[in-house]
Amino acid sequence: MCGIIGINSYKPVSATIIDSLKKLEYRGYDSAGIATLSSGLINEVKSEGRVDILEKNSLVKDMEGTIGIGHVRWATHGLPNSINAHPHSSQNVSVVHNGIIENSTLLKKFLVGKGHKFKSQTDTEVIVHLITENLKSDNIVNSIKKTLKSLHGSFALGVLFKDQPDLIVGARRGSPLAVGYGPNENYLGSDSYALKSMTNKITYLNDGEFCVIKKTHVEFFDEEGKKINKKVLELSSEDQKYDKGDYKHFMAKEIEEQPTTIKNGINEYLDTANNDINIYNFPWKTKDISSITLIGCGTAYHSCLMSKYWFEQLTSLDVSVDIASEFRYRKNRFKKETLYIFVSQSGETADTYAALDLCKKNGMKTCAVVNVIESSISRDSDFVLPIHCGTEIGVASTKAFLGQILILYILTLKLGLLRKDISEKAFLEKLKDLKNLPNLVKQTLQTDNKIQNISNTFNEAKGSMFLGRGFSYPIALEGALKLKELSYIHAEGYPAGEMKHGPLALIEEGMPVVVLAPRDNYYKKTISNMQEVIARGAKVLLITNKSKDEIFSENIWETIEVESTNEDLLPFLLTIPLQKLAYYSALKKGYDIDKPRNLAKSVTVE
Ligand code: M6R
Repeated sequence: MCGIIGINSYKPVSATIIDSLKKLEYRGYDSAGIATLSSGLINEVKSEGRVDILEKNSLVKDMEGTIGIGHVRWATHGLPNSINAHPHSSQNVSVVHNGIIENSTLLKKFLVGKGHKFKSQTDTEVIVHLITENLKSDNIVNSIKKTLKSLHGSFALGVLFKDQPDLIVGARRGSPLAVGYGPNENYLGSDSYALKSMTNKITYLNDGEFCVIKKTHVEFFDEEGKKINKKVLELSSEDQKYDKGDYKHFMAKEIEEQPTTIKNGINEYLDTANNDINIYNFPWKTKDISSITLIGCGTAYHSCLMSKYWFEQLTSLDVSVDIASEFRYRKNRFKKETLYIFVSQSGETADTYAALDLCKKNGMKTCAVVNVIESSISRDSDFVLPIHCGTEIGVASTKAFLGQILILYILTLKLGLLRKDISEKAFLEKLKDLKNLPNLVKQTLQTDNKIQNISNTFNEAKGSMFLGRGFSYPIALEGALKLKELSYIHAEGYPAGEMKHGPLALIEEGMPVVVLAPRDNYYKKTISNMQEVIARGAKVLLITNKSKDEIFSENIWETIEVESTNEDLLPFLLTIPLQKLAYYSALKKGYDIDKPRNLAKSVTVE
């Protein structure tokens, strides 16, 4: 997955392209590049690493041209170096691409046979040569149409032509692409976020469509090359200026913003005057829904798993949870009484989008729980529950996780009440506790010093385990994901009761093991599992909630106590020390916390 930008203007574009690429870095940051057209030539500058490095290149500073394209890359084919960085250019054409061309090997063979010379290891370069080849016998629109038909796989493309000083082509199949409109200039971008500082007037391309961007207007075409009309959407015009403030990293800031995330969610969905939950315009009757399937990837998948425990506990709905990349290729039994819920911070994750698309094609009810409301998943779902946590920049998802589980918990309570699965009294008690959650999150955030010291032991270890039962199991998975993603330490999340079926063999003297044992229904069982790992030499960090009752276990290495509340809400609080553990562990190792190696914020390839 990668980020694309294109600008066709009357004034020099290189500096604006670089600024937009910085905004797109959440989509990939292993290399970056820019191409502009000036004096009838394509100038291309590319570099390995971040956009900052590209920006410092003296060739970029001197770059002329009022039309250009730019790219940030997350490598799929070929090493992340400057040769494989985009744009890729022939003498006539320059291309930026997001996605994967599945038949690139075959196409390359054909093109080499025709005398084309390849410079990179990427799949993208076949697009450059195909367009160049097709241009020999066709005009721009026809050669693009023909090229797109030859490509298998997914893509969003931006194309610049040596002989066309007033034209950029954009095309989409599977990967998102937006067109923006400015005064005597127009733009192409992977998403509206990258274009927001230039315009709030946006058109999204649908799959199969392509466009020709001129300075004064934009023309759209369907896959047969027939001209089509598209709507211009006006987005909220405020350019979200989201910076680190006094924090060292976005992640640190985003962790600390979590009381506000919870407050925002509560303000949005809780009717405090009437002690109720408002889910406006929910398009289905509750009697028409008998089961729920939740789908997501990574942290969003953990949110889905978390809510399964709540849905099962508080409603009589059948609930299943799926990883999007698995769901999309399985033989699913689609049932019209099932509500499919897609959870995604970015709303652009390719696997989650494909799962949504599959459900839509099968006529299912679809609901999105997303943060980015202009995103593809949001736009294409029947109904959207925004999480309103604001921009999340850190690749490791933190506040979005709490935002997602909050909205899913609120939905659970509302459906539980409407279906009469929980009593009004229980509903009101839970609402009361929920209103106090922002305070509890705030208090739990104040456990810093202890975690900083604890993180040293994790940094010295070969590996670690995160254990929990029931409501705490998804949180154990999330804690392990955060640690591996940020600190590159092997960490496994496991149901505590499963240890004896194999993983216990991993435990050796001094191995750090996090045990999540809040005082809930599972407490005693988890404490027994904890004793089993202590007996085998593990250094246990016990995370529980404050209580007047003593903990009956010896040889616990360290204990962290979060605030106390009802057992449904404890997962919110247990998450916080785990986020901080991963943060401090990476900080001490000197790793790039907001952009861990090999990852990207938005995963737009499958
Ligand atoms: O944007 P999404 O929520 O759909 O992203 C899903 C995952 O890629 C994401 O949660 C990923 O696992 C995070 N880096 C985890 O911190």
